[in-house]
Amino acid sequence: PLKVNIELPDQQAASQRFKIGIYFATWWALNVVFNIYNKKVLNVFPYPWLTSTLSLATGSLMMLISWATRIAEAPKTDLDFWKTLFPVAVAHTIGHVAATVSMAKVAVSFTHIIKSSEPAFSVLVSRFLLGESFPLSVYLSLFPIIGGCALAAITELNFNMIGFMGAMISNLAFVFRNIFSKKGMKGKSVSGMNYYACLSMLSLLILIPFAIAVEGPKVWAAGWNTALAQIGPNFVWWVAAQSIFYHLYNQVSYMSLDQISPLTFSIGNTMKRISVIVSSIIIFHTPVQPVNALGAAIAILGTFLYSQGKH
Ligand code: 3PG
Repeated sequence: PLKVNIELPDQQAASQRFKIGIYFATWWALNVVFNIYNKKVLNVFPYPWLTSTLSLATGSLMMLISWATRIAEAPKTDLDFWKTLFPVAVAHTIGHVAATVSMAKVAVSFTHIIKSSEPAFSVLVSRFLLGESFPLSVYLSLFPIIGGCALAAITELNFNMIGFMGAMISNLAFVFRNIFSKKGMKGKSVSGMNYYACLSMLSLLILIPFAIAVEGPKVWAAGWNTALAQIGPNFVWWVAAQSIFYHLYNQVSYMSLDQISPLTFSIGNTMKRISVIVSSIIIFHTPVQPVNALGAAIAILGTFLYSQGKH
């Protein structure tokens, strides 16, 4: 007879798992909504530097109001905290703008297929910049990840170099952001939610001058009027939705990063992309060839092998 060793999980561990499960489900659901509204906006208003700025501004405003009305308790921070946060904010700004620029140029599904290789970037950064080494199985898992992404990219019907590079830059930037965020939160009194709030505010300050320099109020005003004429007043709601949902999904993701390792975080993030890829293909009627889908599947499978190898 099959003998199974069942360990009764103590209540604390079970409730912790339950909490993380709820965080993950909420994070993914909010992210799907963000991705849909973000693309609806970009389709008629192709100014990703402004939409990125608006999402950070909305999040910052939501948190300032929450602190002022005591819905959330404001964190106690010192100059040292903001100094350490600065490089994280630079990485967050670059990662966010690069992903949004990418999504302005290519299908949402394509950006997320490339972004599903984020764990591979995590290995490369940890190996070459932090000097960490990994078991052979981890290095081997890079082949399906990189090969699968390459196959998906070369068979992508609406391939665009800026779209591709944006997603790649975002991968690199977010690996740094996650590693340094986790270090910044460790042993500090600032919670995941407040850490992300401060991150949004600092990123916003960094982004504003660049957004003005790259796009600027003149093209925004003209583009805004065109979009309003095309879509009607609903356009404003789309912009509001993409901005609010951007903040909410990131806030929940940081509430989970506070409790888990950057590795578990990036695996959760890759699984999130499966729901984004599938739902955006359905909603935007994205044409997909079988070989294209095969590449994506191999890449995502590679990420799972990676996570197994790393454990
Ligand atoms: C962004 O705009 O920051 C990206 O869409 C987010 O990418 P993520 O799915 O890695 O959070």
